[in-house]
Amino acid sequence: MSIECRSWGRTPSGEEVSLYILNNKEGYTAGIATYGATLTKLDVPVSGGPSLDVVLGFDELGGYLKDDNYLGATIGRTAGRISQAEFVLDGKKFSLDKNEGENQLHGGAKGFHNRVWTAFPEENAEGPALRLCYDSADGESGYPGNLRVTVIYTLIKNGLRIDYRGVTDSPTPVNMTAHPYFNLNINGEDIGSHELKIFSSKTLNLDDSLIPNGEIIDVKGTDADFTDFSLIKGAAARNYPLKHDRFYILNSRKGEMNIAAIARSSSFDLELEVATTQSGLQFYSGNSLSVGSVGKCGCQYGPRSGFCLEPHTHPDAPNKPKFPSVILRPGEIYEHSTEYRFREFKARS
Ligand code: BGC
Repeated sequence: MSIECRSWGRTPSGEEVSLYILNNKEGYTAGIATYGATLTKLDVPVSGGPSLDVVLGFDELGGYLKDDNYLGATIGRTAGRISQAEFVLDGKKFSLDKNEGENQLHGGAKGFHNRVWTAFPEENAEGPALRLCYDSADGESGYPGNLRVTVIYTLIKNGLRIDYRGVTDSPTPVNMTAHPYFNLNINGEDIGSHELKIFSSKTLNLDDSLIPNGEIIDVKGTDADFTDFSLIKGAAARNYPLKHDRFYILNSRKGEMNIAAIARSSSFDLELEVATTQSGLQFYSGNSLSVGSVGKCGCQYGPRSGFCLEPHTHPDAPNKPKFPSVILRPGEIYEHSTEYRFREFKARS
């Protein structure tokens, strides 16, 4: 097991960025940049060939500085959209930075994804780890309270775990997630050919701006139904390619580590299992992916080059009293974990 650190350049404002490379004895490698606490690569050992990097990304920091698709980034303070970029908390109205029309997406244009985090390499009982810390000041992107957040990436024997922690000195919404785009196909072909199962039959109804309208709908029989393994692109005779961008309410309870989803590569030789202590999962099939910079190994990413499975609590919860609360108060600890576990079925030829 090893942890390497290399200097990875500077942000336009001159902040130094480092890239950490973690290796474990099972053959997994993770690349993590201090810019956005971003997962830049995740090499999965596969028999009969070289390991497979299953996440989209860039070779250089410059690609991430220009990217607005959140490739591999840590998202905060709040994942998903906050309607009208405002909310009322304890009787006081807060106005957030708008970065998608009148709404806020993924914590605003200057969210956690483009902040430089402080990194501390560690070796814990399970494997090599990187602890990243960020102090989000009172008023940043419009949010109240000084919030200290920690994200710990650990290479575990069958993949990667991400642990989240947060403490605040004033009540504030916190609903973090990770935004890696996965592609389990060895040649990077369109992700529509993956099969997916999501452990949920309930999704949030959305308006035209993808803001939940408060209703919960049953997915049975709809294009959003992944209660059993189904092709992401949909059945051949239907509406191809399907566009998925939905929040699923998981069958499991918040706080317990349970399987949220399983994705399989088109040849069914590699499986990704996402387990989380979160109560919900955003599934985004990358249909709007439009990346200006050339990706790793010269790949030009476009729609459906990767898909995201983002565990978090209901989006727009600060504006929906019936949704589970995402408010963190002084004295409380925000704490969540997600594991990306891999399994191989047969050797690649
Ligand atoms: C959201 C999409 C959004 C994308 C941005 C996803 O988490 O669900 O609506 O377009 O992030 O890259």
